[in-house]
Amino acid sequence: MIEDKRIDYTKLPQHVAIIMDGNGRWAKKQGEHRIVGHQNGVKSVRECTETAAELGIKYLTLYAFSTENWSRPKEEIDALMELLVQTIVAETPTLNKNNIRLQAIGNLKSLPGNCYNQLNEAIDETSKNNGLTLVLALSYSAKWEIIEAVKTIAAATRDEKLQISEINEKLFDNYLTTKDIPHPELLIRTSGEFRISNFLLWQIAYAELYFTETLWPDFNRACFLDAIVDYQTRERRFGMTSEQLIS
Ligand code: IPE
Ligand code: IPE
Ligand code: MG
Repeated sequence: MIEDKRIDYTKLPQHVAIIMDGNGRWAKKQGEHRIVGHQNGVKSVRECTETAAELGIKYLTLYAFSTENWSRPKEEIDALMELLVQTIVAETPTLNKNNIRLQAIGNLKSLPGNCYNQLNEAIDETSKNNGLTLVLALSYSAKWEIIEAVKTIAAATRDEKLQISEINEKLFDNYLTTKDIPHPELLIRTSGEFRISNFLLWQIAYAELYFTETLWPDFNRACFLDAIVDYQTRERRFGMTSEQLIS
């Protein structure tokens, strides 16, 4: 429980997703190399994770590395992967202490071997926790995920394990990397960019979107709470009228 009178505990999102953006610009402003921005972004990851866990939010998905990010300079990719390994190793005991379960979505096999192994180890070591589930999107792209699902469904129908008439939204959900995870009700993007950058396209069909100018390394506990408060002011109509929601 967090002592913030603005929070309505009866109206919390179950799942918050974040496009963590602006590390490079943050570093540039300090005259530092881009990687310094990524290093400073780790503390924002820690603060948001802890705040989400304390609030009682069930899922937090963080976009950490997109399929498109493989096009960045090799030294930046190497540094990001190294930072990922270091952070996972260093934070696993804290995840366990806070009852947080780690999961990952994306084309994980494309990650460097040591990254893939450490990630799986941490996922394993935290698998029994039942507080917050922290989902890292790594080498992730929504279009990749959708195509993978379509291929698997097509093969299942070809092999007559699935009837075409059985394909519906619920079934499709189960073929995505996020199966078993509810769709995010709130999507946050930092750094003043107004785009989705190939993140969770299917799952955010009805998410509330929250954009802030704050660069990711500056996005702290107070910023996360501000986003939750803003979300709680939204009227989620799902196509209905306001009057229908009241009655
Ligand atoms: C987000 O910050 C982190 C990753 C995409 C890995 P950026 O690295 O995109 O920072 P900007 O957008 O260049 O400032
Ligand atoms: C999106 O940020 C990907 C992550 C946050 C991991 P980018 O900085 O890569 O996205 P674009 O290039 O602004 O669309
Ligand atoms: Mg960026």
